[in-house]
Amino acid sequence: MNLTLVGFMGTGKTRVGVRVAAELKMTFLDMDDLIEERQGKKISGIFAERGERFFRNLERDLAQELARRDGLVIATGGGIVLDPRNLSDFERSGPVVCLSATPEAIFRRIAAQTHRPLLQGGEKMRGILSLLEKRKPLYDAIPHQIDTTALSLDQVAAKVVAVYREAERRPA
Ligand code: S3P
Repeated sequence: MNLTLVGFMGTGKTRVGVRVAAELKMTFLDMDDLIEERQGKKISGIFAERGERFFRNLERDLAQELARRDGLVIATGGGIVLDPRNLSDFERSGPVVCLSATPEAIFRRIAAQTHRPLLQGGEKMRGILSLLEKRKPLYDAIPHQIDTTALSLDQVAAKVVAVYREAERRPA
């Protein structure tokens, strides 16, 4: 079984995934990192040189590949929900957990970061609000939800581990 973490940028998928994988003694994989490694380019470079459509195709191929594997904790990129086939593939491979946070918390967490091509420029809060509005129904449709706004890393990790343990007890 795999465990897949989904959610908007800045909701903690990578940090939580690393922690949960250590606790469950599973292998952690971050989809953005893997794509960067395989392309030999940063995500921002891929967007700039090849465009978003090309990146989404890489994401789609990788989702299919990882969903066929086993024993992984997967941190997805925030846009993984844009293609519903990604979620159905991951759901078949184990529990999918959606991390969320308020726009203000997301802004605080990513304000100082510059590597995200979809949130470039000065108007970060506006970018967050408009992307969140478009994607909210896609994130909300995921059965396991954890609002990370007021929780510590330990608290979020414990909740994710509990979802995984429960899925282990009741295999689909
Ligand atoms: C994206 C989120 C990013 C990365 C890319 C696009 C998105 O991942 O995949 O910049 O569309 O939300 P993180 O959620 O890890 O920042």
